[in-house]
Amino acid sequence: MTQFAACIERTKPAATFAMAARARALRAAGKDVISLSIGEPDLPTPPHIIEAAHRAALAGETRYPPIAGTDACRAAVARKFTRDQGMAVAARDILITNGGKQAIFNAVMALIEPGDAVIIPAPCWAGYIQVVEFAGGVPVFVPCPALAGFRLDAAALESAITAKTKLLLLNYPNNPSGAVADQAMLRGVAAVLRRHPQVMVIADDIYEHLIFEGRYLTLATTAPDLAERIVTMSGVSKSYAMTGWRLGFCTGPAAWLAAMTLVQGTATAGVSTISQAAAVAALDGPQDLLEVHRAVYRRRRDQVVADLAAAPGVTCSLPDGAFYAFPSISGLLGRQSAGGRLLTSDDDVAEALLDEALVATVPGSAFAMPGHIRLSTAAADSILRDACARIVAFCAGVR
Ligand SMILES: Cc1ncc(COP(=O)(O)O)c(C=O)c1O
Repeated sequence: MTQFAACIERTKPAATFAMAARARALRAAGKDVISLSIGEPDLPTPPHIIEAAHRAALAGETRYPPIAGTDACRAAVARKFTRDQGMAVAARDILITNGGKQAIFNAVMALIEPGDAVIIPAPCWAGYIQVVEFAGGVPVFVPCPALAGFRLDAAALESAITAKTKLLLLNYPNNPSGAVADQAMLRGVAAVLRRHPQVMVIADDIYEHLIFEGRYLTLATTAPDLAERIVTMSGVSKSYAMTGWRLGFCTGPAAWLAAMTLVQGTATAGVSTISQAAAVAALDGPQDLLEVHRAVYRRRRDQVVADLAAAPGVTCSLPDGAFYAFPSISGLLGRQSAGGRLLTSDDDVAEALLDEALVATVPGSAFAMPGHIRLSTAAADSILRDACARIVAFCAGVR
């Protein structure tokens, strides 16, 4: 049998995609499955963005772009970072990436050597665990429980730092919990980081526009003295309903960005010129659509949390941002589903929900927080209502 590289052997596929694939297979077999497993806006990309892409293609913007991005796209992203993040950055400080995911991949690969520790507040996006393991790093999870609003506690962070710690991954609004960073949390984190100058930071702000309670804050502008240690990344996927365009971006210290550009140049080179033209239209165009999208997701969040309140054994706090619900299902554990499955873990609950209620969710263990499941609320209201009714009926049948 072929012996693949160690990075392949130690990297597991993301559970989110595995659940989505299982849901697709059941649907292909004729089952009426509702999939709430993937975090993908169901809203269409706004027409003015699509038209800009079309115009760019017709105008001949069809050749290899520079690795770091087209001048126009980098300039639009620099304007965006100035407008939304309050960062005084120029086009040369920007790297355009194939989705937000590649910004994180570039940043981790440029920094992490086998054995380096990477601190990840948990729950966390499953993609972080994958990329850190791929690089040979050691994920060190700092639990951020529901009782603490799923926010990172400075003392817990500090006690996780060792001489091996090289990187901290921050993600607010958080996937899967929806937690939004507040001033107190960021100040506390900054104070810890000042005492540990070897620790660099990736601030993943991909859900920056999806905040329902509180306001958007990011570490680099809350603690400008640390900006030279922080890569701040975001993208158009979630905010502008553009997941398929694969367009992310970041800014940060010049040397780290140069190393990241080398990683990207090695893997994929520059991002599709058509997508970059679309991103310019998204970022420079009307921004009121962000409020429209936010209102839709807020309504769905309220609905899902209200509906889940009727599910015995389930406790769901109101997420402050992003488009997920992350209820605790610990009240179901140690019991048996109506279909006869013993529910010993969140994996069992997610499996039983799929098999018996035909609702695809993702177990919290995929996000380094067992005892929960994640539901994406980026689906039509009627689908969410139907899914919640099925979950309530499933929970009511648990003995
Ligand atoms: C926290 C987080 N970061 C990054 C990404 C990647 O976004 P993109 O689709 O732009 O690659 C996701 C997507 O699910 C995410 O949830």
